[in-house]
Amino acid sequence: MYPLIRNRRLRSSEAIRRLVRETILTPDDFLVPLFVVEGKNIKEEIASMPNYYRLSLDILEKEVKELWSMGLCSVLLFVKVPENLKDNKGTEALNPDGLMQQAIKTVKNACPEMLVMTDVALDPYSSYGHDGIVGDGQILNDETTEVLAEMSVSHALAGADFVAPSDMMDGRILTIREALEEEGYPNTGIMSYSAKYASAFYGPFRDALDSAPVDIKNVPKDKKTYQMDFANRFEAIKETQMDVDEGADIVMVKPGLCYLDIVREIRNEVEVPIAVYQVSGEYAMLKAAAQNDWLDEKAVVLESLLAFKRAGADGILTYFAKSAAKWLKEN
Ligand code: PBG
Repeated sequence: MYPLIRNRRLRSSEAIRRLVRETILTPDDFLVPLFVVEGKNIKEEIASMPNYYRLSLDILEKEVKELWSMGLCSVLLFVKVPENLKDNKGTEALNPDGLMQQAIKTVKNACPEMLVMTDVALDPYSSYGHDGIVGDGQILNDETTEVLAEMSVSHALAGADFVAPSDMMDGRILTIREALEEEGYPNTGIMSYSAKYASAFYGPFRDALDSAPVDIKNVPKDKKTYQMDFANRFEAIKETQMDVDEGADIVMVKPGLCYLDIVREIRNEVEVPIAVYQVSGEYAMLKAAAQNDWLDEKAVVLESLLAFKRAGADGILTYFAKSAAKWLKEN
């Protein structure tokens, strides 16, 4: 009589495995991060992110058309700001003709139906490489949220569908939501980086944008006074719940693979969609191993992306979006 239940029956062929599969990955799940630079005809590879590039606006236009044709319908824009335009207050972030504002228009012109999200934080614009304004030996909270709100309105005016505040200042979602309502953008959404940890996995991204924090007297050179301590779990729930209460439409966990427990925890706590960010360091690790033939790139990437979805994510920000969309078609 032993055993009546044999779990392997449900694994015995590809057909039965397909029938009982609980989680399915599709290109609809992906948001594509894009790095934009000034200039013409520029496609610069990022040293610590092999096969990932900074694009000038003309190349960006071609890129988003290609993404759209592959079934990738959402992008998240980041800009690399020239050093001479950086200051402590991120003044250039509010320039109506700034690179971000132009990038939003470029994408919307090329692909009107593409969902355009924009990164909202001061770090690419900050001469100090911090997400907020530096003063009195700290990163000033309330002064920063005011600028982030103006920045969000400026992105909405340029045509962004969603703003994505990645700064981790307290109260920024409410400040941004109120500003968008007051300035006539009630339909502009907010995807909040709500559980964003102070992670060493952001290294390659800071290379991509040349945005790493610099030495300043009496100010910590890291982001630990605003990004979360990676030892904490309850704090992630609290942060996320607060962002939902303040008006976030989508919340986010970041980084991804080391934080799947947090994705699940938050899935159980909130009713809004959850995004997860497979960050630059995760990309770099997988890419480096694949380039050495130590891992099978397609297999490990698809396994990692599916794990995000199984953990409870609705959207996945990934530098592998294009490759994964191709691979999913082949399957
Ligand atoms: C900026 C920002 C960062 C990332 C997204 N937005 C870097 C940071 O917080 O230092 C990281 C993304 C990645 O590593 O892929 N606030």
